[in-house]
Amino acid sequence: MSGSDDESAWWRDAVIYQVYPRSFADGTGDGEGDLPGLRARLPYLADLGVDGLWISPWFPSPMADGGYDVSDFRGIHPMFGTLADADAVLREAHALGLRVIIDLVPNHTSDRHPWFLAALAAEPGSSLRDRYFFRDGRGPDGEEPPNNWISAFGGSAWARVTEADGRPGQWYLHLFAPEQPDLNWTNTAVLEDFDDVLRFWFDRGVDGLRIDAAPAMAKKAELPDADYGGVLQFRTVDWDDNPHWDVEQVHDIFRRWRAIADTYDGDRVFVAEAVVSTPERLVKYLRPDEMHTAFNFPYLKSPWDAEALHDVIDATLASFEPVGVPSTWVLTSHDEIRPVTRYGRPTTSSFFITDGEGEVSDLALGTRRARAAAMLMLALPGGAYIYQGEELGLPNVDDLPEEVLQDPMFLRSGGAIRGRDGARVPLPWSGVAPPFGFCPDEAQPWLPQPESWSALTVEAQSSEQGSMLSLYRAALRLRRSTEGLHAAPLVWRRSPSGVLDFDRGTVLRCLVNLSREPVEVTVAEVLLSSAPVARGHLPVDAAAWLRPLTQ
Ligand code: GLC
Repeated sequence: MSGSDDESAWWRDAVIYQVYPRSFADGTGDGEGDLPGLRARLPYLADLGVDGLWISPWFPSPMADGGYDVSDFRGIHPMFGTLADADAVLREAHALGLRVIIDLVPNHTSDRHPWFLAALAAEPGSSLRDRYFFRDGRGPDGEEPPNNWISAFGGSAWARVTEADGRPGQWYLHLFAPEQPDLNWTNTAVLEDFDDVLRFWFDRGVDGLRIDAAPAMAKKAELPDADYGGVLQFRTVDWDDNPHWDVEQVHDIFRRWRAIADTYDGDRVFVAEAVVSTPERLVKYLRPDEMHTAFNFPYLKSPWDAEALHDVIDATLASFEPVGVPSTWVLTSHDEIRPVTRYGRPTTSSFFITDGEGEVSDLALGTRRARAAAMLMLALPGGAYIYQGEELGLPNVDDLPEEVLQDPMFLRSGGAIRGRDGARVPLPWSGVAPPFGFCPDEAQPWLPQPESWSALTVEAQSSEQGSMLSLYRAALRLRRSTEGLHAAPLVWRRSPSGVLDFDRGTVLRCLVNLSREPVEVTVAEVLLSSAPVARGHLPVDAAAWLRPLTQ
């Protein structure tokens, strides 16, 4: 029933828009985005021309990690609304032809989840503690963590609890923040409960689940020390035989889940968030009985450099095509630097917000490149992801006052890393001053918006032909209306150094100029360009889609 072998399954070339609900639109007037706000803006997304949404976690959560610390996997955070609001989002999105993927965070729960509270109250060694990783410490009196594992947000991955009798007790594992204790996926109660969580959301009509931190979910038995090669950073792309990342047994969980998804009609889809060391290891998550698709992190992280992009496109296609899985392409997310800021800095690669941090950005340059990058991404075969505000060309807000920062990356690094809040500032919809229609004027958005965003609102950009929003709309329309694009293979043309030039079958040609010289084009062939084509030349840092008339 799954239809996943069906070449026409919706997700194979879908463009998915990521909604970070707290920052998308406020429908209730408290300065926090919510589901009534999202409902009201669904027509905007349909009009933009995307095929579906991925909604970042909407579950009840103490928000220690922006909602990625879930205290009830079957509910909706009261700040966002109710289950009835979620049902309305699903219903209305479907009526507009939009699919909906939600974000499941199964590696950990919140430390306020009833299971964790029960585990804390229970005796060491009890079955309630076995749903997590509780261990005795090493050293005299167990003062040292059980092993040397590190947290993605800095420091040890272990926190010590105080036992019921008031004495320092066992330690629990948290690969992310201490407020996010890791679940033990070898525990049957955990497995069975999540079977039910999947059914709960599939029954309500979600079209898919994005699986957060998928490679974290299995750990090597006995929890041996890790060899980080002396680099105490969570650089999972460099890890090959790590005891807490991409461990073979993780695949058993996804096989179990796929069997559940396959009992539903309507092409339900799993999307893996899996940052692993090689494309070969990534495609293991995409075997026919596991997940359907995965985010393409190597592409996201690539610098603005023709050779690097050419290589990562080739490597992606070479690894995905043989397994019959469409690749995906993505420039950014709620975890990364916004593209117009990133591409205007000397360091144009992206690594979980930290690459290029503190560098000054030339936003005009960054915007030109981000426009070209969008056209390149949307011309590639497979699916694509757009993170809210990317279509508006919003910059990262790098000067948020420290007192408003909430990201555990900031808090746990003692302020050394500013973290991801700068990519999560509420969207500007209309008007000429904050809160730009995100919430009523009397309310304060939960993160302050820069005054300079008045030219970047949806309202301002909708009526401006040369705006980023107009470019995304035009590119998405053209992508959708170009017959045969879905199945058209990518074939590179010979091109000068610094220029990417490829055909999609006989239906579209994409030219991206990352060199230092304008490139000649035949004006009559230009369907869309990210910058004006003057006197038959495509400027530097620009892209064009052409009718592939000539060889
Ligand atoms: C994923 C999410 C990120 C979160 C982390 C822990 O990487 O995208 O926002 O902090 O998982 O759940």
